[in-house]
Formats: sequence, C-alpha cells, structure tokens
Amino acid sequence: MDEKFRLGLIYGSTRPGRLCDTVANWAMAQVRRHPAFEIEVIDPARLRRDADGRLDETDVGPRIALADAFLVVTPEYNHGYPAPLKELLDASYEPWQAKPVAFVSYGGASGGLRAVEQLRQVFVELDAVTLRETLSFTEIWEQFSAAGDLRSPERAVRRMDKLLARLQWWAGSLRDARNRRPLQQAA
Ligand SMILES: Cc1cc2nc3c(=O)[nH]c(=O)nc-3n(C[C@H](O)[C@H](O)[C@H](O)COP(=O)(O)O)c2cc1C
Repeated sequence: MDEKFRLGLIYGSTRPGRLCDTVANWAMAQVRRHPAFEIEVIDPARLRRDADGRLDETDVGPRIALADAFLVVTPEYNHGYPAPLKELLDASYEPWQAKPVAFVSYGGASGGLRAVEQLRQVFVELDAVTLRETLSFTEIWEQFSAAGDLRSPERAVRRMDKLLARLQWWAGSLRDARNRRPLQQAA
C-alpha cells in the first residue's frame, strides 16, 4: 500500500484581506494532485487563543505532532517573516523534531525569500529539516487573477511538483528514522 503523509499547511499571514488565502488555496490545489498527502490546515488566524489573545499551546502542540511534514506559505514583511508565524513556531518544540519543512513564499521584489532564509535559522533550533526546493512569487499582487488563478502557472506547477516529490521523500525517510529511534534518544 502507498504510504500516506499528513501535511501541515501553515499560513504565515493573519492580516485582514491577506493574499495568503489566495496563495495557500493555490498551494492546496497543487498538494491535492499528490495522493500521498492529506492536508491539515494550520492557520494562526483560526487557532484557539486564551483570554489574553495568546495561542493556546495545548491546541497547537497536538496539531504539529500529527503532521509528518510541513508546507509554510509565507509573505515577507520588512525583510522578515510575519510575527504571528513566529508565535506559532514558538508555541511547541518536540512536535517539530525531525520533520521536513518546505516553503512557498511571496512578497514584492524579493518574493519572500529573505523571510524564508530567516525561517531556516528558526527551524534548525526546532530540530526540523528545511528543504532546498522553494517556490517563490515576486510582486504577488500581479500573479493571480481575481478568481485566484495563477496567470502563468507552468513554471510554478513544475517547481511545486518537484518540491512535493522531495517533501514526500523526506517525510517518509524522517518518519522511518523517528520510528526506529526518537531523536531525543540520540543524546
Ligand atoms: C508592513 C509590510 C511590509 C512589507 N515588507 C516587504 C518586504 O520587505 N519585502 C517584500 O518583498 N514585500 C514586502 N511587503 C509586501 C508583502 O509581502 C505583500 O503585501 C504580501 O501580500 C503580504 O502578505 P499578506 O497579503 O498575505 O498579508 C510588505 C508589506 C507590508 C504590509
């Protein structure tokens, strides 16, 4: 039987009117063409919060723990990644360990790549493994039609297929490794 993997699709922006919905919807449609993945949406705007507005860590941790791999859909804000994404990453630790993370980024001139490079540093600290393959959209407001369709999809679809194939490889390899011996037992 073909292996199935739970893919945590993480939203980077919580801004009202965010383009993150458009980009994440497109990414989800791409993932759905790959039967190995089942999508679990992890959206900081829709997660449970306590009376002070802080993320409920007892809600976040189990969601991260269920996933075998992550796809982070993030914009760039002032050469960095959005604060709500950092809050999500900081809300748990062990559930991220020895799992692969890929990125779909977007923004203005940089296509969000500076945000991605910063996120790689954060994921190292969480013992997660970030992938080389990254899909990046520059001038994001020009890329999609009002209906949410990518205006020039060929290159993006090709890159996304390679990204997802590699993510599947990492998801399987790291799940096998975790099952053989949890990372905490290494030292
Ligand atoms: C406060 C702010 C800062 C931004 N800084 C950058 C930036 O440094 N580099 C970039 O390429 N785009 C930048 N942008 C453009 C955003 O990436 C773009 O507006 C994107 O749509 C934001 O994501 P969202 O619509 O999902 O919230 C910035 C936008 C805002 C609102």
